[in-house]
Amino acid sequence: MSNYTVPGINENDAKKLIDELQARLTDYNDLHLILKHAHWNVNGPNFIAVHEMLDPQVDLVRGYADEVAERISTLGAAPIGTPAGAVENRTPLAYELNEGTTQGHLAELNKVYVQIVEGVRESISVAGDLDPVTEDLLIGQAAELEKFQWFVRKHLEDPKGNI
Ligand SMILES: [Fe+2]
Repeated sequence: MSNYTVPGINENDAKKLIDELQARLTDYNDLHLILKHAHWNVNGPNFIAVHEMLDPQVDLVRGYADEVAERISTLGAAPIGTPAGAVENRTPLAYELNEGTTQGHLAELNKVYVQIVEGVRESISVAGDLDPVTEDLLIGQAAELEKFQWFVRKHLEDPKGNI
Protein backbone atom coordinates (compact mmCIF):
# COMPACT_ATOMS: atom_id res chain seq x y z
CA MET A 1 0.00 0.00 0.00
CA SER A 2 1.41 3.37 -0.98
CA ASN A 3 1.13 6.51 1.15
CA TYR A 4 -0.56 8.40 -1.66
CA THR A 5 -3.46 8.15 -4.03
CA VAL A 6 -4.62 10.08 -7.08
CA PRO A 7 -4.71 13.85 -6.36
CA GLY A 8 -8.24 15.03 -5.61
CA ILE A 9 -9.49 11.62 -4.37
CA ASN A 10 -9.76 11.14 -0.61
CA GLU A 11 -8.51 8.01 1.13
CA ASN A 12 -11.96 6.54 1.84
CA ASP A 13 -13.09 6.95 -1.74
CA ALA A 14 -9.82 5.45 -2.99
CA LYS A 15 -10.42 2.39 -0.78
CA LYS A 16 -13.94 1.89 -2.21
CA LEU A 17 -12.63 2.22 -5.76
CA ILE A 18 -9.77 -0.21 -5.07
CA ASP A 19 -12.22 -2.81 -3.68
CA GLU A 20 -14.36 -2.58 -6.81
CA LEU A 21 -11.34 -2.76 -9.12
CA GLN A 22 -9.94 -5.77 -7.24
CA ALA A 23 -13.27 -7.61 -7.67
CA ARG A 24 -13.15 -6.88 -11.39
CA LEU A 25 -9.49 -7.97 -11.62
CA THR A 26 -10.32 -11.32 -10.04
CA ASP A 27 -13.33 -11.76 -12.34
CA TYR A 28 -11.26 -10.97 -15.43
CA ASN A 29 -8.51 -13.36 -14.39
CA ASP A 30 -11.11 -16.13 -13.96
CA LEU A 31 -12.79 -15.18 -17.22
CA HIS A 32 -9.79 -15.33 -19.51
CA LEU A 33 -8.95 -18.79 -18.14
CA ILE A 34 -12.54 -19.94 -18.67
CA LEU A 35 -12.55 -18.62 -22.23
CA LYS A 36 -9.37 -20.60 -23.04
CA HIS A 37 -10.88 -23.69 -21.42
CA ALA A 38 -13.92 -23.36 -23.69
CA HIS A 39 -11.65 -22.70 -26.71
CA TRP A 40 -9.93 -26.05 -26.07
CA ASN A 41 -13.04 -28.10 -25.27
CA VAL A 42 -15.67 -27.18 -27.86
CA ASN A 43 -16.81 -30.07 -30.08
CA GLY A 44 -19.18 -30.54 -33.00
CA PRO A 45 -20.90 -28.29 -35.56
CA ASN A 46 -19.53 -24.73 -35.73
CA PHE A 47 -16.37 -25.90 -33.98
CA ILE A 48 -13.98 -23.67 -35.88
CA ALA A 49 -16.21 -20.58 -35.73
CA VAL A 50 -16.63 -20.80 -31.94
CA HIS A 51 -13.03 -21.93 -31.32
CA GLU A 52 -11.71 -18.93 -33.24
CA MET A 53 -14.27 -16.48 -31.85
CA LEU A 54 -12.97 -17.07 -28.33
CA ASP A 55 -9.28 -16.21 -28.73
CA PRO A 56 -9.60 -12.46 -29.42
CA GLN A 57 -11.86 -12.25 -26.36
CA VAL A 58 -9.15 -13.94 -24.26
CA ASP A 59 -6.69 -11.25 -25.32
CA LEU A 60 -9.20 -8.48 -24.69
CA VAL A 61 -10.04 -9.71 -21.19
CA ARG A 62 -6.37 -10.19 -20.28
CA GLY A 63 -5.86 -6.59 -21.34
CA TYR A 64 -8.75 -5.51 -19.11
CA ALA A 65 -7.18 -7.33 -16.15
CA ASP A 66 -4.01 -5.33 -16.81
CA GLU A 67 -5.94 -2.05 -17.00
CA VAL A 68 -7.80 -2.53 -13.72
CA ALA A 69 -4.66 -3.84 -11.94
CA GLU A 70 -2.72 -0.74 -13.00
CA ARG A 71 -5.58 1.52 -11.90
CA ILE A 72 -5.44 -0.15 -8.45
CA SER A 73 -1.74 0.61 -8.30
CA THR A 74 -2.29 4.18 -9.51
CA LEU A 75 -4.78 4.61 -6.66
CA GLY A 76 -2.10 3.50 -4.19
CA ALA A 77 -2.83 -0.19 -3.48
CA ALA A 78 -1.33 -3.52 -4.49
CA PRO A 79 -3.37 -5.50 -7.04
CA ILE A 80 -3.76 -9.17 -6.08
CA GLY A 81 -3.25 -11.38 -9.11
CA THR A 82 -2.30 -14.80 -7.74
CA PRO A 83 -4.89 -17.62 -7.96
CA ALA A 84 -4.65 -18.27 -4.19
CA GLY A 85 -5.04 -14.58 -3.42
CA ALA A 86 -8.04 -14.35 -5.68
CA VAL A 87 -9.71 -17.37 -4.08
CA GLU A 88 -9.23 -15.93 -0.57
CA ASN A 89 -11.19 -12.85 -1.49
CA ARG A 90 -14.20 -14.31 -3.23
CA THR A 91 -15.94 -17.28 -4.84
CA PRO A 92 -14.40 -17.97 -8.26
CA LEU A 93 -16.69 -17.86 -11.29
CA ALA A 94 -18.25 -21.32 -11.74
CA TYR A 95 -17.89 -23.22 -15.02
CA GLU A 96 -19.10 -26.82 -14.88
CA LEU A 97 -18.53 -28.03 -18.44
CA ASN A 98 -15.34 -29.73 -19.62
CA GLU A 99 -15.55 -31.43 -23.04
CA GLY A 100 -18.85 -30.38 -24.61
CA THR A 101 -20.74 -29.18 -27.66
CA THR A 102 -20.39 -25.68 -29.03
CA GLN A 103 -23.96 -24.89 -27.92
CA GLY A 104 -23.27 -26.29 -24.45
CA HIS A 105 -20.20 -24.12 -24.01
CA LEU A 106 -21.94 -21.03 -25.35
CA ALA A 107 -24.80 -21.58 -22.89
CA GLU A 108 -22.29 -21.80 -20.02
CA LEU A 109 -20.43 -18.74 -21.27
CA ASN A 110 -23.68 -16.81 -21.45
CA LYS A 111 -24.24 -17.52 -17.74
CA VAL A 112 -20.70 -16.41 -16.90
CA TYR A 113 -21.17 -13.18 -18.87
CA VAL A 114 -24.35 -12.38 -16.92
CA GLN A 115 -22.23 -12.37 -13.75
CA ILE A 116 -19.36 -10.50 -15.39
CA VAL A 117 -21.57 -7.75 -16.81
CA GLU A 118 -23.57 -7.37 -13.58
CA GLY A 119 -20.29 -7.00 -11.66
CA VAL A 120 -18.88 -4.36 -14.01
CA ARG A 121 -22.13 -2.44 -13.90
CA GLU A 122 -22.15 -2.44 -10.09
CA SER A 123 -18.60 -1.10 -10.12
CA ILE A 124 -19.56 1.57 -12.67
CA SER A 125 -22.32 2.65 -10.34
CA VAL A 126 -19.92 2.95 -7.36
CA ALA A 127 -17.25 4.70 -9.44
CA GLY A 128 -19.85 7.07 -10.90
CA ASP A 129 -20.17 8.77 -7.51
CA LEU A 130 -16.43 8.87 -6.77
CA ASP A 131 -14.13 9.00 -9.78
CA PRO A 132 -14.95 9.69 -13.45
CA VAL A 133 -11.63 8.24 -14.63
CA THR A 134 -12.28 4.81 -13.09
CA GLU A 135 -15.90 5.03 -14.25
CA ASP A 136 -14.76 5.78 -17.81
CA LEU A 137 -12.32 2.86 -17.80
CA LEU A 138 -15.06 0.45 -16.69
CA ILE A 139 -17.67 1.83 -19.10
CA GLY A 140 -15.36 1.10 -22.04
CA GLN A 141 -14.83 -2.44 -20.79
CA ALA A 142 -18.55 -3.02 -20.19
CA ALA A 143 -19.41 -2.02 -23.77
CA GLU A 144 -17.06 -4.64 -25.25
CA LEU A 145 -18.05 -7.36 -22.77
CA GLU A 146 -21.73 -6.76 -23.49
CA LYS A 147 -21.01 -6.89 -27.22
CA PHE A 148 -19.29 -10.26 -26.85
CA GLN A 149 -22.23 -11.60 -24.84
CA TRP A 150 -24.43 -10.54 -27.75
CA PHE A 151 -22.23 -12.69 -30.08
CA VAL A 152 -22.70 -15.63 -27.70
CA ARG A 153 -26.44 -15.12 -27.36
CA LYS A 154 -27.00 -14.91 -31.12
CA HIS A 155 -25.73 -18.51 -31.38
CA LEU A 156 -28.24 -19.62 -28.73
CA GLU A 157 -31.37 -17.76 -29.79
CA ASP A 158 -34.33 -19.67 -31.25
CA PRO A 159 -36.65 -18.21 -33.95
CA LYS A 160 -38.92 -16.81 -31.24
CA GLY A 161 -36.06 -14.87 -29.66
CA ASN A 162 -35.65 -17.14 -26.63
CA ILE A 163 -32.31 -18.37 -25.33
FE1 LIG B 1 -5.58 -22.12 -29.42
